[in-house]
Amino acid sequence: MAQKLLLRALAGETLPTPPAWMMRQAGRYLPEYKATRAQAGDFLSLCYTPELAAEVTLQPLRRFGFDAAILFADILLVPQALGADLWFVTGEGPRLSTITDTAGVAALKPVEDIHETLSPIYETVRILSRELPADVALIGFAGAPWTVATYMIAGRGTPDQGPAHAFKDENRPAFEALLDRITDATIEYLSAQIEAGAEVVKLFDSWAGSLKGEDFDRYSLAPAARIISELKARHPGIPVIAFPREAKERYVGFAAATGADCVGLDQSVDPAWAAAEVQSAGCVQGNLAPGHMVTGGQALIDEVRRIRDAFSGGPHVFNLGHGITPDADPDNVALMLETLRETR
Ligand code: CP3
Repeated sequence: MAQKLLLRALAGETLPTPPAWMMRQAGRYLPEYKATRAQAGDFLSLCYTPELAAEVTLQPLRRFGFDAAILFADILLVPQALGADLWFVTGEGPRLSTITDTAGVAALKPVEDIHETLSPIYETVRILSRELPADVALIGFAGAPWTVATYMIAGRGTPDQGPAHAFKDENRPAFEALLDRITDATIEYLSAQIEAGAEVVKLFDSWAGSLKGEDFDRYSLAPAARIISELKARHPGIPVIAFPREAKERYVGFAAATGADCVGLDQSVDPAWAAAEVQSAGCVQGNLAPGHMVTGGQALIDEVRRIRDAFSGGPHVFNLGHGITPDADPDNVALMLETLRETR
């Protein structure tokens, strides 16, 4: 059987048309997502109800024909499984109990306890691996330790990750103990997703760009390297996509240093630069600005072609540079795929 396109690109193959999927492809821009979410009651119930989580994962595939599905869950389920309180405030985003000191880190649950909370997520993966179309690859994911820690420390999303930087600078041993605990939990969580049927895993380091110099190496790059080397030892052949968002020049060499099979690029990166400096070392993913899914038109068509053509000389997975937003127009998603796959 011919291998799935996503797996071929992640193995380093240059394809005439790159495989495509979209961050947050199941989400509030789709009326069918909103209907299933209403049925679940709230976002967390949706995440923890395997039949409904699998249903929303499949919705964008039925509508658009992507080459991959991403498990429907959230990066903040891991802190919850480690004992943090987690809730979502409508229109504002996530809230968590905060970690402010050494005792707060010590009070977290042991890593082996996370499966008690997270087992419904593995069930979602099992359902999906049965129900996905044969040519669609299933991506599991987790947040990277730094990004997850920023939410656990601040108790919410923050524009500059100020509270996490302050905690790191004021109590480095406790900060590093927290990162270690999240790193261990992430290894177990991703391993369980792979055992349940995930064919690829992705590590979201959404706030990597706020780490500078040595901090970037110690708190974005090193934990990613530890997670990836452990996953590769346990599950040889499962590719990993790393997404150190807004890493700028630190995208260069990130795959080699961490063992990632592919690096996700955000929309601030120039494709021509990335083709020369990042893709020359392996597969890249990205990087259309999500705003085009709102505005559409000729600018969308031109930009899809520009990105596709810039990365046509090496392995590439087409994606947005970050998640699609709730105000996006589904017709623009269809136009994006049609343009990407046009005969040339
Ligand atoms: O990509 C996918 O479709 C898979 C599912 C997924 C979600 N969140 C679903 C979700 C993934 C991979 C995530 C990752 C995630 N979650 C990240 C890292 C990626 C990124 O976007 O930078 C972060 C930082 C979070 C934490 C989080 N979850 C925030 C800050 C929010 C609120 C912001 C918002 O968009 O409302 C969420 C909620 C969330 N996660 C939604 C979805 C579909 C919206 C919830 C709803 O239905 O109201």
